[in-house]
Amino acid sequence: MTAPTPPAGPLIQVTWTDHVTGSTGYLVVDRLVRGVSSGGLRMRRGCTLAEVAGLARGMTMKEALHYDPQGRYIPLGGAKGGIDCDPRSPQAYGVLVRYLKAMRPHIESFWTTGEDLGLTQDLVDEAAAEAGLVSSIQAVYPLLDDETAARERLAAAFALKVDGIGLDELVGGCGVAESVLATLDRAGLPYAGTRVALQGMGTMGGATARFLARAGLKVVAVADLKGTIAHPDGLDVESLLAARDTYGAVDRAALRPEDRELPGDAWLSVDAEVLVPAAVSYAIDAVNQERITARWIVEAANMPVLTDAEALLAQRGITVLPDVVVNSGTNAWWWWTLFGDIGADADEAFAHTRRAMRALIGRMLARAEADGTTPRAAAHALVADRLPVIAERFGWYR
Ligand SMILES: NC(=O)c1ccc[n+]([C@@H]2O[C@H](COP(=O)([O-])OP(=O)(O)OC[C@H]3O[C@@H](n4cnc5c(N)ncnc54)[C@H](O)[C@@H]3O)[C@@H](O)[C@H]2O)c1
Repeated sequence: MTAPTPPAGPLIQVTWTDHVTGSTGYLVVDRLVRGVSSGGLRMRRGCTLAEVAGLARGMTMKEALHYDPQGRYIPLGGAKGGIDCDPRSPQAYGVLVRYLKAMRPHIESFWTTGEDLGLTQDLVDEAAAEAGLVSSIQAVYPLLDDETAARERLAAAFALKVDGIGLDELVGGCGVAESVLATLDRAGLPYAGTRVALQGMGTMGGATARFLARAGLKVVAVADLKGTIAHPDGLDVESLLAARDTYGAVDRAALRPEDRELPGDAWLSVDAEVLVPAAVSYAIDAVNQERITARWIVEAANMPVLTDAEALLAQRGITVLPDVVVNSGTNAWWWWTLFGDIGADADEAFAHTRRAMRALIGRMLARAEADGTTPRAAAHALVADRLPVIAERFGWYR
């Protein structure tokens, strides 16, 4: 039997309007596999349906890229939620709860979700409970062999902290950092002294900065909503991490006298070999890409580099490592843990994430070399090979 041809657009799109504030929210399900999809929920002022649809498609790709026929975790479809609201506004929590109440039938039956830009997992969990949900990932429970053991394992993994930061907030950045390290290895560049600049010091940016600093790289700039903090010899990453608020903004009182405060977009043009956009989508466009001198852009954020900017960067010999590979570690870790590929153990989680990310980066770069394409085109080609295999084995919705 041959698999059906994939539809051009997403399977399901929902637009929601908050009856109290008028805020708008979206859910896009790009694809269901075994009747279930996976994708986080973001909250930001200006979030659009097109953005959420792009993110949902990216989730389908991340799920497919991690498909291992021998693994216990079998990929789900891709989805995403988005709410157009400033997460720091006093109304934000109420909007979140009402959105989750409205989405409850979808979350109960086919959409598993979690934190993304603007939200923490704790906040999503609290609001989900208030909205009457058992959990934000309950739709996957019927697919588990032993639901009780699986939920206990995931809860135990979420309770783990490593040097003050929750394991769930570290695995994604561990994967981003490993993508950087694997790329440096292929290029024959030593870790020590290689400079990196990041946009975003929240869940993804913060963890990436920690793992790269611990590997010996110099984190020379980090930007948050307040601006860029920089030092050409490297910032004290751990003290910046300890000075963050729940939205990932760094208290400037923690800066050393020698650290410099620069404008918000200065992270783009500082002298560094590696740039890691780890905040908003659409951060690098055709105009501001001109200021970039780094050799690699490693997408910890989702969709931070616009298509026309990427083409111009490629002409200048700057390589973009795509989000669908680079930041896929968090989502995969949830499922590796829940399905039982790994236990509730930080070392095991980091080791598994590193192995999987290194293998994926290797496959993607080898394919790019063989096809003479960008790494993003190569990642998409890998996905295009796998989606029919997944559809054939598991069907479209079932
Ligand atoms: N959290 C996850 O599990 C996860 C997984 C995969 C991908 N991502 C992607 O990573 C990106 C960041 O997500 P997160 O969860 O780390 O977010 P977060 O809310 O934890 O942190 C966001 C960080 O970006 C900064 N920031 C926000 N807007 C900014 C702006 N305009 N200029 C400069 N800095 C700005 C904030 O100050 C903060 O430091 C998003 O694109 C998200 O989709 C997140």
